[in-house]
Amino acid sequence: MRMVFLGPPGAGKGTQAQQIHEETSIPLLIMGDMLRASVKRQDEVGLEAQGYMNRGELVPDEVVIRVILKRLEEEDCQTKGFMLDGFPRTSQQAQALDKHLSQCNQQLDLVIYYSLPDEIAIQRLSGRKICRKCGKIYNISTLNISTDEQTVCSKENCGGEIYQRVDDDPSVQPKRLAEYHQKTSPLLEYYRQKGMLREVSANRKVEEIFSETMKNLKMT
Ligand code: AP5
Repeated sequence: MRMVFLGPPGAGKGTQAQQIHEETSIPLLIMGDMLRASVKRQDEVGLEAQGYMNRGELVPDEVVIRVILKRLEEEDCQTKGFMLDGFPRTSQQAQALDKHLSQCNQQLDLVIYYSLPDEIAIQRLSGRKICRKCGKIYNISTLNISTDEQTVCSKENCGGEIYQRVDDDPSVQPKRLAEYHQKTSPLLEYYRQKGMLREVSANRKVEEIFSETMKNLKMT
């Protein structure tokens, strides 16, 4: 299975993708996490990406395309397929992915679009916290932690530090949403025309969204 998750920042793509990965073992490639890991290492990609990410802007196409195509060539993606969270985000990225797949005699099976009004996305981004160690995603206003006091991950055997992403600051959120509407949302039509797009309302409980996503996977 080769699939892509689309949707605005805060729609819950990462939350759903983690659960689907646990259920199916399909390799999960999270573009934002790959870039954040590069920033942490301060490698060439990280140094180039950091400023764009902190400002809520998309990182240049040639950088993210290079990173993702290299990862897609690895054995696990070639044999088990992949789930892409956060890629593609522009027409140029979508075309680069199509070209790569056609060179490998492969094609995408499914694109899931998690739809969510901007005001709810902003509420979710404002309350998000993430475990530095295991990557578990929390939310202080909508989900699983009710107090700002919690500073360590409650997942069994973890206890990692919980932190807030720099780009979740209220001053950066409008730019991220604007980038999404201007550069990523045209991809909905691109994939709709190819007959691959399935829309799932993300304005529901996590379990309901998961169940509808799994139904779409099984029908493909
Ligand atoms: P990235 O890390 O991909 O950020 P994003 O797309 O903005 O997505 P998010 O991680 O913010 O949201 P999500 O949909 O995964 O939501 P989540 O599950 O966490 O990208 C960051 C930056 O990297 C970009 O701005 C750009 O600079 C760069 N970048 C990345 N990819 C790029 C590319 N292809 N090209 C160029 N640049 C790129 O959920 C959000 C919150 O809501 C959480 O707290 C969660 O607990 C909560 N929540 C989830 N579901 C529900 C629910 N059903 N009900 C209530 N709360 C919920």
